[in-house]
Formats: sequence, C-alpha cells, structure tokens
Amino acid sequence: MQNWDLLLTDARIATMRAGAPDYGIVAGRAAIAISDDRIVWLGDESNLEGRTAAKQRSMNGRWLTPALIDCHTHLVFGGNRAAEFEQRLRGASYEDIAAAGGGILSTVRATREASADELFNAALTRVNALASEGVATIEIKSGYGLDIDTEIRMLEVARRLGRESSVDVRTSLLAAHTVPPEFEHNPDGYIDLICDEILPRVVEHDLADAVDAYCESIAFSPAQIEKLFHKASELGLPVKLHADQLSNGGGAELAARFGALSADHLEYTSSTGVAALAASNSVAVLLPGAFLTLAETQSPPIDELRSNGVPIAVATDCNPGTSPICSLRTAMMLACRLWKLTPEECLAGATREAARALGLLHDRGTLEVGKRADIATWDISHPRELTYWVGTPQLADLIPSRQTTRS
Ligand code: NIG
Ligand code: FE
Repeated sequence: MQNWDLLLTDARIATMRAGAPDYGIVAGRAAIAISDDRIVWLGDESNLEGRTAAKQRSMNGRWLTPALIDCHTHLVFGGNRAAEFEQRLRGASYEDIAAAGGGILSTVRATREASADELFNAALTRVNALASEGVATIEIKSGYGLDIDTEIRMLEVARRLGRESSVDVRTSLLAAHTVPPEFEHNPDGYIDLICDEILPRVVEHDLADAVDAYCESIAFSPAQIEKLFHKASELGLPVKLHADQLSNGGGAELAARFGALSADHLEYTSSTGVAALAASNSVAVLLPGAFLTLAETQSPPIDELRSNGVPIAVATDCNPGTSPICSLRTAMMLACRLWKLTPEECLAGATREAARALGLLHDRGTLEVGKRADIATWDISHPRELTYWVGTPQLADLIPSRQTTRS
C-alpha cells in the first residue's frame, strides 16, 4: 500500500472545484494527502481505508481552501503617490494628473532612480503582506521603467521575489503602460522599441510569462497594442490587457481577438465586449481597489459577464497610483460590497479563476488530485467568512508545496 509524504486529517475542505456547488465542500470530516508536493488523495476521512503517510497532521476541524492567488499586481515600484491621492481628494482627476506629467510617469521617475535592492526590499514587504493572508501565487508586472534597463530590472526583481520569498511569482512585461518622456511625440516609435528591443531581450532572458498593455486614451491605442500583441504571439508569449478602465476603447474586443489570458478592469466594457470575451475564453479580472481609489462610479458589467459565462477573477491591482491596497481579502470584500459579487464568486475569483487568468488552472487554484499542494488553512467556521472579515488574521497556516515535504 502506498505511503504518502503527508496526510492532513480532521479537516473541512472547500475544494473550489469548477462546476461543484457550495464552494466544492467535501462532506464531513475530510482528509488530504500529499506526495512530491502534489495532492494525491482527497476525500471523506472514512474512505482512507488505512492508508498512511510518513507524516500525519490533524487539522482539528480547521477549514482548508486552495491558497489564494493575486493575478494582477504592480507591486514592484519606487516611491509612492500619496501626494497625488491628496490632489485627487481636492478634485483633480487621474487623467488631469497624468496629463501634467504626474501619474504613472511620476512612479517611473522614482523607479528609474531606485536600485534593484531598493526595489526588492520595498516589494518584499508587500509580498509578505499578501502571503500573510493566504496568498501563494502573485502576478507582478513591469511598467514603471519604460526603458530597456529599468523594465528588465523590474522583471529581474520580480523573478528574485519568486526565488527568495514564500510565494510563486508570475511576471508580465507591461512596457506599454504609458508613453515615456523620451517618446512624448513619437508613441509609435516607443512601440517599435518594445517590439524590436525590449521584448526580444526579455524573452531571451526568460523574464516574462506574459505581455500586458494599457489600452486607454492616456496610454496606447488598439492599433498600437495590436502591433505589440502580434510580436508577443510571434515570440510565444500569451497576452493580457488593461481594458476599458476609464473609457470604452474596445479593449475587451481587442483582448478577445488575441485570445488573451485575461482582460482586466472592464468598467466601461460594452455588451459587444462581453460577448467577445465569452467567445474567447478570456478571464475578466475585476479590480475593485482601483475602482474605489479613483472614486469611479461606472461598475463593470457584472450581470452580463455572469450571464455570458465569462469567468471572473478578483485581484488587488496593488500599485501606488490607483490601488494602494496590499490585501487580496480586502479586494474580495470590496467586490462583494461594491458590485454584489457573492462571497463564493469572490473566493473562486481569488483562487480558481485567478489561476485560469494566469494560465495555471491545470496546476493550481482548486484542491484536486494532481494539482500543486498549495493549501491555506483557516480559523473560520465557514469559507464565506473569507469575503467578510477584513484585517482579521485568520490564516492558520499556508502550505506552499515547496515547504510541504520539508516541514
Ligand atoms: O491598473 N491602469 C493602469 N495601470 C494601473 C495604474 C498604474 C498607476 O497609476 O501607477 C492600474 O490601475
Ligand atoms: Fe493594473
């Protein structure tokens, strides 16, 4: 009879399996077995039939869920934009500030000046904050360098965070975040620089898992982004898009045309955009922290996304400009309160659908046999509490697969 590495017993398990009702909860006292960092058995404890493991741990009735996944962050950056937040409270708009050379460009200046170690140390604090509430996988974008050296430095820092922290990091090249000052009058020239130099170098050094862009009047047009996405596809990288955040620029349609992993924000997406997403299997990544921070009033088309069967993920968008929020639990609660997502949709959005948005659903995001043993254990009495409490430490233990067999 096989001898597993680790067996967790006396647990309550919410698998979050696709298609399963009620959080995919396993009835009764449940157990989960792990070998080689993978889930190898999971079910009602009474069906264990005497099988054992090298190490056994009672969960004492605790709840287990898939570890959380933050699938959209910009958490590597220099400086902060608290002064702009004050300006906005006094009435300036995000676009006004950007047009005056602030906004993303003010973080670009601070990021260009920061050393790799400075960027790493500041970002590590944010990674640890997310991990402390159950996050085991984080997507991190570049986009505050906008020149080859700084974009690469940001991605190297992100990769290093993956090696030197407890979380697994996926990176996205967001060189097309806004037009850098050097190309103020030649945005097409900057797109060429990304296509001809930045992207090939990033691919050569395996620094990015995807290519992202910002489709907006204050950033890039669909035609410019198409050019970049063609190049990304040619080089074998999946794409994703900041789409329709401040206006309807046909971003969802553009993302869908390229079979994007995800289209993110979507406040101003039209019915046509939703239909396009549904047909392309792209995930809608909703970012309530940015909506709240910008005092946006136009909500994403939640009902239409739902009725069209578009998968919905929820992420922090942690960044210094529009979402200074380093808490995925907060983003989940906000998505419920602001947009009436259900607590179950929010938990799925921060586990299964977030994994889908990163192209990792085969590997994580639900508790199922064959997947990575990325497990969060909680002191709660029902998984709905995960989208209810904010700032209340309830994580008992995070079992990232890389630590499972060692602990
Ligand atoms: O996701 N929308 C564009 N990018 C970020 C904001 C970046 C910034 O303001 O620094 C976002 O909201
Ligand atoms: Fe963003």
